[in-house]
Amino acid sequence: MEVVIRDNAAEVALLAASWVARLLGEKPTAVLGLPTGQTMVALYAELVRLHREEGLDFSGCTTFNLDEYVGLPAEHPCSYRCYMREHLFDHVNLDPDRTHLPDGMARDIPRHCQEYEERIQAADGLDLVLLGLGRDGHIAFNEPSSSLSSRTRIKVLTPLTRAANRAGFPSEENVPLYVLTMGVGTIMDARRCVLIATGAGKARAVAAMVEGPVTAMLPASALQYHPRCTALVDDAAAAHLSMREYYRAVYALKPDWQL
Ligand code: GLP
Repeated sequence: MEVVIRDNAAEVALLAASWVARLLGEKPTAVLGLPTGQTMVALYAELVRLHREEGLDFSGCTTFNLDEYVGLPAEHPCSYRCYMREHLFDHVNLDPDRTHLPDGMARDIPRHCQEYEERIQAADGLDLVLLGLGRDGHIAFNEPSSSLSSRTRIKVLTPLTRAANRAGFPSEENVPLYVLTMGVGTIMDARRCVLIATGAGKARAVAAMVEGPVTAMLPASALQYHPRCTALVDDAAAAHLSMREYYRAVYALKPDWQL
């Protein structure tokens, strides 16, 4: 896995946004896999700025979100559809018909998950998946013990993740127990993955993901098998990487690093 370390979270967001912009410049019809979470707020803000001030064009782009809560309608303020509208969709020229999220209100969940996979295939697969990282090493909502070849399906959240995602809900008990999520296998099929982690709270998970053994107990470690995956982290999140000086040196040799 390539590791790129920047000084702080703001620089991480700027660099990640520049990679997205570069991809859209090269392939205006790119298909993106998109995450939610606090880490991504600054990245989406920069993409919105690039659209408004520098004309970054999303009109040909298709997006598939990684996950969604079960039982929350799209209009619910804590739904991931709502998050995406607030931080990105309502502020750029994406075609709403080409923004996809799993439907947490689907009546036939197995069938809906199968159709979500089929829609990704019909779009010719994911060009770039952006990923956040849970403190326990989850990606999307693939909690520890997830199959490393899983596809889109329903999952049960751990108490740790429900506590971490409590913001916006009246209490922890109100955080849905069930979620729909792309599988680890779905993510691994993407042509390119960029995982973004910032802050000291992610440092242990980052080190385990990059330098630890590949294990279902840390689903992000599966990314070690991905041929084009970059972990983009800030100094604080890089703190436990034993080879961090090497990663910095490698990056310094590639000043024009690109996707
Ligand atoms: C949630 C999301 C993940 C996200 C993770 C990290 O569990 N389902 O996709 O990567 O949180 O979120 P944060 O950036 O808020 O730490």
